Amino acid sequence: MDLRIRGRKAIVNGGSTGMGRSAALALAKEGVEVFVSARREDRLVQACNEISAETGTLVTPVCADHSSPEGRDRILAACPEPDILVGTCAPPPMTPDYRAITDEQWREAIDISLLSPVEFMRRVLDGMVERKWGRIVNIATVAAKYPGEIRILSGSTRAALANYTMAVSKVVARHNVVINNLLPGMHHSAFVEQQFNEKARMNGTSYEEEVAQFSREWRIAAGRFGDCDDVGTFVALFCSEQANYITGQSLVIDGGATTSTF
Ligand SMILES: NC(=O)c1ccc[n+]([C@@H]2O[C@H](COP(=O)([O-])OP(=O)(O)OC[C@H]3O[C@@H](n4cnc5c(N)ncnc54)[C@H](OP(=O)(O)O)[C@@H]3O)[C@@H](O)[C@H]2O)c1
Repeated sequence: MDLRIRGRKAIVNGGSTGMGRSAALALAKEGVEVFVSARREDRLVQACNEISAETGTLVTPVCADHSSPEGRDRILAACPEPDILVGTCAPPPMTPDYRAITDEQWREAIDISLLSPVEFMRRVLDGMVERKWGRIVNIATVAAKYPGEIRILSGSTRAALANYTMAVSKVVARHNVVINNLLPGMHHSAFVEQQFNEKARMNGTSYEEEVAQFSREWRIAAGRFGDCDDVGTFVALFCSEQANYITGQSLVIDGGATTSTF
């Protein structure tokens, strides 16, 4: 299927690994020129080179921390008029005890997971409205909709983001600018591999065994973790020409771990 976005320009914040990288790849496959941000330069440059080689599309690395004002300025200087904005970050730390969450952890999670995407939206939306075309996708978390103690920092900041997204999406929809969120459950990403390899090392098990046990305990109906590239494909769909009538939505992609009729 042709998503009819060839020649568009996209910023993908947090795109050197995981779902951000998959989103950048899926957009580049559609002929979108992509500007990818991340903090670690070597991994970022490698990801951009790989995506460019695979797709034949221009992919520009922008080494910057998107949670800081300076980082945001650098990213927007590289691509001042994006048609597409995709936002993600490394998952905030697990919180096994709500009483142990520090002020500093709260501030960091709010800066990265909430204020950064909010600030990017505020800064790019006027241009999208003027040009009568815009697509914004935030890769958030299923914990925004289904809270749990262990995901308090990740879930509560993204619940606020979903609320903001819905409110602002109503303002810009008439200008062919749509804003949506994806809410992933467990996927094999750099973050998950690091966490579950560490668990395996401590328990004398393997990564696969830890994933299988987690899938059973959390009742993931699919019985496994998801593939980041599949999420990337959904990002591209939500950025497509055809996505012009879907806005303010938050789509759960969790292999059936959660239960809700609507
Ligand atoms: N993986 C899962 O199972 C899972 C489950 C639920 C929700 N999620 C959500 O899905 C999203 C992506 O997770 P993931 O697992 O794909 O993450 P990941 O593999 O850890 O990748 C995160 C990416 O964001 C970049 N990044 C992080 N903070 C940044 C910052 N301040 N400025 C610029 N770049 C930044 C990282 O590069 P640098 O570190 O070099 O900056 C990396 O490229 C997150 O919002 C996460 O909360 C993931």
